[in-house]
Amino acid sequence: MSTTAGAIALVCRFDAQEWAEWLPALTAALPGETLVRAEDDHDPAAVEIAIVANPPAGALRRYPRLRLVQSLWAGVDKLLADPTIPTDLPIVRMVDPAMNAAMAETALWAVLTLHRGFHVYARQQRDSRWQPHAQRSADAVHVGVLGQGQMGGEVSRQLRTLGYRVTGWRRGEPLGPVLADSEILVNLLPLTPDTRGLLDTARLRQLPRGAALVNLARGAQVVDADLLAALDDGHLSHAVLDVFHQEPLPADHRYWSHPAVTVLPHVAAQTDARSAARVVAQNLAAWRRGEALAHQVDRRAGY
Ligand code: GLV
Repeated sequence: MSTTAGAIALVCRFDAQEWAEWLPALTAALPGETLVRAEDDHDPAAVEIAIVANPPAGALRRYPRLRLVQSLWAGVDKLLADPTIPTDLPIVRMVDPAMNAAMAETALWAVLTLHRGFHVYARQQRDSRWQPHAQRSADAVHVGVLGQGQMGGEVSRQLRTLGYRVTGWRRGEPLGPVLADSEILVNLLPLTPDTRGLLDTARLRQLPRGAALVNLARGAQVVDADLLAALDDGHLSHAVLDVFHQEPLPADHRYWSHPAVTVLPHVAAQTDARSAARVVAQNLAAWRRGEALAHQVDRRAGY
């Protein structure tokens, strides 16, 4: 296939089902653009924009005239860790209201589950055990939300609507008081050098005894051995984990069978093809007009 100058390469780790969703959505949202899948035959020198979804390191090296990278993922930690991507190449992360809404759904489900003990009732059902537990009202439950950006902000707002006592934490603020107060801690921070390994023994043990952790951000922000130790000795009552150091989570990992862990396969907020394709189209149109890019990654901040 030959391509004209200014082509857009789709460098996406998609399976057939995902391509069946994404290709029509992007094609419809970007009329008049030349879209090529990285795995299809094309002239790399004609590619000016890459739309990427979790690409393997080094995947963009073949495009000598690349001028813009648009991520379909909200988290860009892997792109920033790829030493083959020039540091002056603009990268735009996905900010999509549909994704924020999906993240809020997952966070609300997790907080409601942990607060009302629905995970405990699921365990009891397996043992045919009829055992009601005391019910607390949401306005007595303290929830900490790490990260107050697009997703953390939306999650905090929706939790407050349900009546929870929410404390949001932003980079640069003291973390200790938030941890000490959080019966349920929801992590929505971007993975950066500052947040890697953030949730270690020292910080997990600042949570009140019996607290629960909900990690919907990145696995590398949690020190697994420290979390498991805190769950094993009962300092923490439960963890809902959507993200892991290694994904898929290896079959022999203790999280799978731990009674105090709920494992999700990185599905807290999947990118919605139709809505995200419109976001991409708006971003690319703005870029072609020479306007400033919304949600361009700040390499110094790390997201
Ligand atoms: C998913 O984790 C994303 O970053 O979009």
